[in-house]
Amino acid sequence: MKRSSNIFSSGCLRLTTVLMLCLASSSQLTTDFYAMSCPNLLKIVRKEVQNAIKAETRIAASLLRLHFHDCFVNGCDGSVLLDGSNGEKFSLPNINSARGFEVIDTIKSSVESACNGVVSCSDILAIAARDSVLLSGGPTWKVLLGRRDGLVANQTLSNSALPSPFDTLDVIISKFANVGLNITDVVSLSGAHTIGQAKCATFSNRLFNFSGTGAPDSTLETNTATNLQNLCPVNGDDNKTTFLDQNSADLFDNHYFQNLLNGKGILSSDQILFSSDEAVNTTTKVLVQQYSINSGLFFGNFVNSMIKMGNISPVTGSNGEIRKNCRVVNS
Ligand code: HEM
Ligand SMILES: *[C@@H]1O[C@H](CO)[C@@H](O)[C@H](O)[C@H]1NC(C)=O
Ligand SMILES: *[C@@H]1O[C@H](CO)[C@@H](O)[C@H](O)[C@H]1NC(C)=O
Ligand SMILES: *[C@@H]1O[C@H](CO)[C@@H](O)[C@H](O)[C@H]1NC(C)=O
Ligand SMILES: *[C@@H]1O[C@H](CO)[C@@H](O)[C@H](O)[C@H]1NC(C)=O
Ligand SMILES: *[C@@H]1O[C@H](CO)[C@@H](O)[C@H](O)[C@H]1NC(C)=O
Repeated sequence: MKRSSNIFSSGCLRLTTVLMLCLASSSQLTTDFYAMSCPNLLKIVRKEVQNAIKAETRIAASLLRLHFHDCFVNGCDGSVLLDGSNGEKFSLPNINSARGFEVIDTIKSSVESACNGVVSCSDILAIAARDSVLLSGGPTWKVLLGRRDGLVANQTLSNSALPSPFDTLDVIISKFANVGLNITDVVSLSGAHTIGQAKCATFSNRLFNFSGTGAPDSTLETNTATNLQNLCPVNGDDNKTTFLDQNSADLFDNHYFQNLLNGKGILSSDQILFSSDEAVNTTTKVLVQQYSINSGLFFGNFVNSMIKMGNISPVTGSNGEIRKNCRVVNS
């Protein structure tokens, strides 16, 4: 697949008064891209994300995840939003799982009312993800803008490029490397699982007969295992969900990492960041330990990694289009 080597050139970004990040970025993306063409864009999106969270707290998590699933497949080009049975929506990681599409539609129509035909769906996703983190109690940053929308959705690529909860750590690391993200990014971005929910289907393999051992995953803490066994019995409803961070489900904080120290990661792909053999020599274990005791370090690295992720293969210039409806390419 396409390596995002284009994200490596220089560029310094003033993030806050105390934090100056020198980032890998291509970037024709800029923070003031719509300053003239849609001056109220950020206010409009913030308001709509606020309304959506008021209606359902979990939607913050769902919107953050949508941006991630967009960026890992052909870059941040709004491809995840396209309808159609050949689309990414029907890939294994997304089907019956990715959510928030209606909220993106609502935001898009508010934005269109203010500035018709100007703002891409991929940029709306990037802003909505940033706002979702902030409104959940997490850090904030200036979102780079100027992405255009892609013309194709690639289901096959979505199946292979997105990490699976059943992947080994080495596979997860290589899927991140394929889009120009490193091990620090793997761990900091996994901290997104401090909010949101997961279905039984994504972790029930750990609960009764893990890898043919006849017992639960030995890295899963026993009380947590019992609770999850009750939620997800054999032949139960695979659609039932639980919180990815059982400590503070809706708050964007560093408890996700504290949980991993205690064997309370929900997905196998969470717990292996701390408990697997590879966690030592890949350094994910020491990163988990650092983030668990230093939420400022987690927040700073998370922001850095979100900006990097938002810079994966952006569509710019005369490529792509500004979609009118986020679900379909313009005719
Ligand atoms: C490291 C590899 C990753 C794997 C294997 C993974 C896997 C998963 C799975 C299986 C779920 C539950 C989906 C469901 O039950 O429907 C989930 C939820 C979620 N993921 Fe990840 N994920 C990863 C990385 C990320 C990243 C990088 C982000 C964002 C920066 C992210 C954000 C989220 C959020 C916020 C949720 C909750 C969504 C909701 O409640 O609607 N994940 N992830
Ligand atoms: C979709 O991605 C696969 C790689 O997974 C690639 O072989 C194929 O050419 C892509 N299709 C389109 C339409 O870009
Ligand atoms: C990952 O990349 C960032 C820059 O984007 C860098 O600061 C960090 O040290 C890198 N981490 C690893 C493990 O290479
Ligand atoms: C666990 O799974 C293995 C391999 O799939 C199987 O041989 C074994 O009988 C199972 N054990 C139990 C207790 O179900
Ligand atoms: C889970 O949800 C999906 C989509 O809503 C549905 O097709 C499936 O039948 C559900 N499974 C169960 C066991 O309810
Ligand atoms: C790290 O350790 C694991 C298990 O001990 C091993 O399989 C893997 O090859 C090692 N990786 C590196 C990069 O040394």
